[in-house]
Amino acid sequence: MKQPPTKHGSKKLSEVAKHLVLPSGIASTGWPAVRDKAKEFGVLFDRWQDGLGRGILAKRSNGLYAAGIGGIIISICRQVGKTFSIGTIIFALCILFPRLKVLWTAHLSRTSDETFKWMQGFARRRKIAPHIEQVRQANGQQEIHFKNGSRIMFGARERGFGRGFDSVDIEVFDEAQILTQKALDDMVPATNASKNPLIIFMGTPPKPTDPGEVFRTRRNEALAIKKRRADGEVVECDMFYTELGADPKADLEDKMQVEKANPSFPHRVPWESILRMRKILADDESYRREGLGIWDDDRESSGAITETRWAELAVNVAPETDPVYSISFSIDGMRMALAAAKLNGENVFVEQLHDDAGALEDGMKRLAAWFAEKDENGITRWRRSRGIFISGSSHAPTLAQMLRRAGVASKWVTVLNTPQVFAACQMLDNELKAGTVEHPSEGQERLDASVSTVMKEPRGKQGAWAWASVTPDGDETPTEAISFALWGARTTKLSAKKHAEGEGGAIL
Ligand SMILES: Nc1ncnc2c1ncn2[C@@H]1O[C@H](COP(=O)(O)OP(=O)(O)OP(=O)(O)O)[C@@H](O)[C@H]1O
Ligand SMILES: [Mg+2]
Repeated sequence: MKQPPTKHGSKKLSEVAKHLVLPSGIASTGWPAVRDKAKEFGVLFDRWQDGLGRGILAKRSNGLYAAGIGGIIISICRQVGKTFSIGTIIFALCILFPRLKVLWTAHLSRTSDETFKWMQGFARRRKIAPHIEQVRQANGQQEIHFKNGSRIMFGARERGFGRGFDSVDIEVFDEAQILTQKALDDMVPATNASKNPLIIFMGTPPKPTDPGEVFRTRRNEALAIKKRRADGEVVECDMFYTELGADPKADLEDKMQVEKANPSFPHRVPWESILRMRKILADDESYRREGLGIWDDDRESSGAITETRWAELAVNVAPETDPVYSISFSIDGMRMALAAAKLNGENVFVEQLHDDAGALEDGMKRLAAWFAEKDENGITRWRRSRGIFISGSSHAPTLAQMLRRAGVASKWVTVLNTPQVFAACQMLDNELKAGTVEHPSEGQERLDASVSTVMKEPRGKQGAWAWASVTPDGDETPTEAISFALWGARTTKLSAKKHAEGEGGAIL
């Protein structure tokens, strides 16, 4: 019977990857030569692997690897083909480039032994064997020597293997989720003398107890770059990052989620292999990370503000206290949001104001004029407030300047620095949990929509995060704006002016 056409293995990397961040300045790729060599060995890559190889070996116009500085970072769950794909690429490179020196380490001896065994088998293939000089295994040192002088050396980092080498061209860190900065500092200088070094980190999302800071930091850097690029910024990038994984809240019994996380399932890796892996993993949490590639960081953050919580904190009446104002811009300046916050006893009432349409020049000018408007006592709007808090991209200083030109006193205008932005986002999160913020129950469609789509996006190394939209057309600026307004309301030392002074103004 004729088999129905199968789509297995035909998806592109960009289709299977949750995140894909390419280095900038790509002019060519060393991939075709490697792919063709692998074909000679009898290896046929699936389409996503083709994309992976193309990205890993991408070069700049000077012929150097585009990710040669920042490295290749691959977060993929177990049993997808990491060892297979990268191992094959390394073999092909060793044959193509004489005297190439490769250092391949895993955290566990068991893993590096397994990889070595796989490579030994690979080296025996009919098309490869003629290129092999010797396969050596002595005193914990495992090596494959090629006739052209290339070498692959294997070992486990848990045994201290990897230090003290020099003139290495390629380093592969398997189980990169268990890798300290210290170990890295000891190993990376070995590539300093190489003309075109390449460092590959591959692993699964780290456990809370894993020393995963190297892997996590690079992931956070990549995600931050992805975000800025999504906002339209052109960002220099010297690394390649890709992440495959199931949904953060995946049902562990759902085969579709396995398919999402593992592009080799089921045509190369059968269900039985997944079950076997699940059996040897300690618990569901381990399976979620290692079997489905889900980062704990995403589970904690996705759907950060629940619909129920938000609805519980809605009120029908706004307090009469003096407002602070805040403005947030998207990085590209195309979106902005204006918000206000007012103390209400222990609570802070936050709302989005509607005079925020449009963006940039006209919007900013209009906004500055709005703050300069006077009431019947001749007191300007800004002077009736307890401060104006601005953040977001390069537009904040421009607005601050326009406000000053419109007569707003300098000390009324605060442009939040990065730590203050993180503090403000965290404050909204804390106060939502504590139930000490409130917001209007009606007329806040844009804010309501924003709140329902924001997630906590990790920024930097110390667990800092900021609001970001999960959906490409979502808008984080209203949620940011109420965060800044809340932060302003809680921290400002300024007080609003209520009555006009002099000329009898105060007694009127
Ligand atoms: N293009 C391919 N051709 C043939 N087999 C493939 C291909 N891609 C993946 N595989 C197979 O997928 C299976 C898993 O591969 P591999 O052991 O490399 O996974 P891994 O991601 O390193 O897993 P682990 O994290 O458990 O080490 C192997 O049986 C491998 O042969
Ligand atoms: Mg492996």
